[in-house]
Amino acid sequence: MKRKTVREIDAAGKRVLVRVDFNVSLRGTGEIEDDSRIRACLPTIRLLSGQGARVILCSHLSRPKGQVVENLRLAPVADRLSNLLGVKVRALRDCIGPEVEASVSAMRDGEIVILENLRFHPGEEANDPAFAASLARLADIYVNDAFGACHRRHASVVGICQFLPAVAGLLLERELVMLGELLENPEQPFAAIVGGAKVSGKLGVLENIITKVNMLFIGGGMAASFLAAKGFSVGNSPVEQEKLEYVNGLLRKAEATGVRVLLPLDVLVAENTRGSSGSRTVAVSMIPDHTTIVDIGPETIALFVRELSACRTVFWNGPMGVYEVPEFSFGTRTIAGSLAELDAVTVIGGGSTAAIVTSLGFADRMSHVSTGGGASLQFIAGEVLPGIAALGDA
Ligand code: 3PG
Repeated sequence: MKRKTVREIDAAGKRVLVRVDFNVSLRGTGEIEDDSRIRACLPTIRLLSGQGARVILCSHLSRPKGQVVENLRLAPVADRLSNLLGVKVRALRDCIGPEVEASVSAMRDGEIVILENLRFHPGEEANDPAFAASLARLADIYVNDAFGACHRRHASVVGICQFLPAVAGLLLERELVMLGELLENPEQPFAAIVGGAKVSGKLGVLENIITKVNMLFIGGGMAASFLAAKGFSVGNSPVEQEKLEYVNGLLRKAEATGVRVLLPLDVLVAENTRGSSGSRTVAVSMIPDHTTIVDIGPETIALFVRELSACRTVFWNGPMGVYEVPEFSFGTRTIAGSLAELDAVTVIGGGSTAAIVTSLGFADRMSHVSTGGGASLQFIAGEVLPGIAALGDA
């Protein structure tokens, strides 16, 4: 479904409330670790400010649960944004109320401010109409550029659309085009690489993607459940016993529809998943009882890389092993590197996979790195995200 976008409105001189997802990861010191989500919204902010709109940004940061938490204020985000834009972005001390209304009334055309963390008010997550109305009082137009929050039925994402003309920002538009194409019109061969800890976290994704792809590659902790379902003994690797029937059903479905499912042929195993305890590579038929799978093995990496080289579209979500431990990160890093080299449409599901690709310096070499974690998974699972539904059709 096409949404009306910020390109189609005349924002000059108007007060425009832009919902962004600046829920960035912070270091213990409160410093911003990864500013990708801030950078991703720059085109929308520049477009609006350049047109002479009064740009009022709003976002959540982490999960303060309806209370003011000092180290979750958005001032550091405003500073980073000011640096990136080269103009001062003022951080207000609240997101609703008379003082905020007064500050917004005093804004000049083209000026940019950011409201305080929306989740300091319980009304945000409760989708309270009164809270949404208070936000709406600040603006003439609402722009949603917060793809990462579109799976949340919150006041600044859903409720507000009742009160203001609502359109999509440029980032949201791009996410919808790139993820939408993947599901509706992928160039073939199309492969999905799905990893991460658990099958249960990716049920919807697996269920939907299996109907779209030519090949499905399985890695990460969830590979243990797939291997167990095929009758392999996987040592101490966590297996989701209650999901084995689901996995078998998925494998049957793949076989019936001619989808190739590639499971690891060999794996790196270790006695201690925190590292430094003598890991070794074994065939999946030879996993010792007292060990845990911590990465895909070299034969598997070679197989995945070889098969990927022929693909025209690839979607990747979830690391191939215990990526956080450097000695178990080789499979994940190699897959990331091979996708960066690929002459194909490469789409990276958000969350930890996006963070990995960004930290390795490969983000610019992918066709699209989604800014949504849970949102991108729900989208790929074929679900309608409330924040997108609330915008209505173009
Ligand atoms: C995310 O990081 O996935 C979004 O910002 C949503 O955050 P939440 O899971 O705290 O709602």
